[in-house]
Amino acid sequence: MTRSPFLPEEAHLAPEDFRALRELVNGYCGLDLLPDQRASVERRLRERLAILGIEEFGEYVRLLRGDPLGKGELEEAIDCLTTNETYFFREAYQLRAFRDEIIPMLARQAASRKRLTVWSAGCSTGEEVYSIATTLLESPDLHGFELLVYGSDISKRCLAHARRATYGLSAFRATTPEQKRRWFVERPDGWLVADRVRQICHFGQLNLLEAERAPAVGRVDAIFCRNVLIYLDARSRKRVIDLFHERLYPGGVLLLGHSESLINVSTAFELLHLREDLAYRRPVSGFGFASPRPMRAAKAVDEAGALRDSSSEQASSQRDSQSALRDSQSGLRDSQSALRDSGTLRDSRTRLLERLARAEEKSDRAEATRLRTPEPFPTPPKEPGSRPPGATGRDGGNKGGE
Ligand SMILES: C[S@@+](CC[C@H](N)C(=O)[O-])C[C@H]1O[C@@H](n2cnc3c(N)ncnc32)[C@H](O)[C@@H]1O
Repeated sequence: MTRSPFLPEEAHLAPEDFRALRELVNGYCGLDLLPDQRASVERRLRERLAILGIEEFGEYVRLLRGDPLGKGELEEAIDCLTTNETYFFREAYQLRAFRDEIIPMLARQAASRKRLTVWSAGCSTGEEVYSIATTLLESPDLHGFELLVYGSDISKRCLAHARRATYGLSAFRATTPEQKRRWFVERPDGWLVADRVRQICHFGQLNLLEAERAPAVGRVDAIFCRNVLIYLDARSRKRVIDLFHERLYPGGVLLLGHSESLINVSTAFELLHLREDLAYRRPVSGFGFASPRPMRAAKAVDEAGALRDSSSEQASSQRDSQSALRDSQSGLRDSQSALRDSGTLRDSRTRLLERLARAEEKSDRAEATRLRTPEPFPTPPKEPGSRPPGATGRDGGNKGGE
């Protein structure tokens, strides 16, 4: 490794090194770097070159490929390249649907266990985890339940922040004064999440593509994986969704971000029509669903023949709008998520919902017959399982501020 005085801004990412980097990053965590992101990747990784005293990207790529240093550095590189944008009570309509329609259903399903577990997969700095936790704590349906919220992310830096549980103003852009008063404590260095919320939250590092490590999360009643799949390639999305299917209890619910869906990804879930949103549900064996009424996701669209094309068009137009969004920025990090939150994508999700509703009308009878056929699934473990790898909760994490 060369260690001499140098100007990292002189380092340029040649197309062949960018190709190698894309493959390495994609192979490790599924992140789908687009060809037109070379300049921003170059800009973001220069910091790593400077820290390591490396003058050329070619040398950096060789380091990433090497053992044993390579894997650790690949995680550092990925940390520079991922979008970690998040804030409290993001996508409030979805949290309302969770509170008003999903939690009551999950509470009925988990009545004998008296324990409800939610996993926030790709939780970034933890705001989503704590938002879910407050929603659970507020629910009258869950009185007397043991509540657990697991947060996992590939980024150790984000998880350290999540465990610190102290946040600045930008994390509260969608928080009402009442929520802030109720769930946070003001400190000189920011707002600390209240003790009773932190007590039920646990964090651990997990690469969603390392399915063999995921059993540490145990079986869960609901998974939030929002604004993560959009950054992954199609093959990785499928692997992650298969993992979620395996980790959910039968009847468990999967909630995605507003621009994400399972179309062209998986037919293993049912679609839940909620008043304000869509969610996915791992089918229960047998029949007798509680409301809201589910339908087999994506499969129903297939059976509605004519809708297949328009739905995949929808999916690809979502991909296109993501690319367009990616095009439109000079810095990838924050503006990407802000744009993805824009009305355009929200509208496309509403249109998708309407199409799927029409599909349901057409395919209901065939679906109902098929759904009555029990789906085999592994026997759930007696306990929900251990925490995510390296997880720390109240005891292990630094919850007391900076
Ligand atoms: C935009 S944030 C989403 C945060 C939160 N879910 C939300 O919607 O507000 C995406 C997060 O996914 C994480 N991520 C991306 N690929 C991952 C992978 N393969 N395994 C685990 N986390 C991943 C990133 O580190 C990042 O923190």
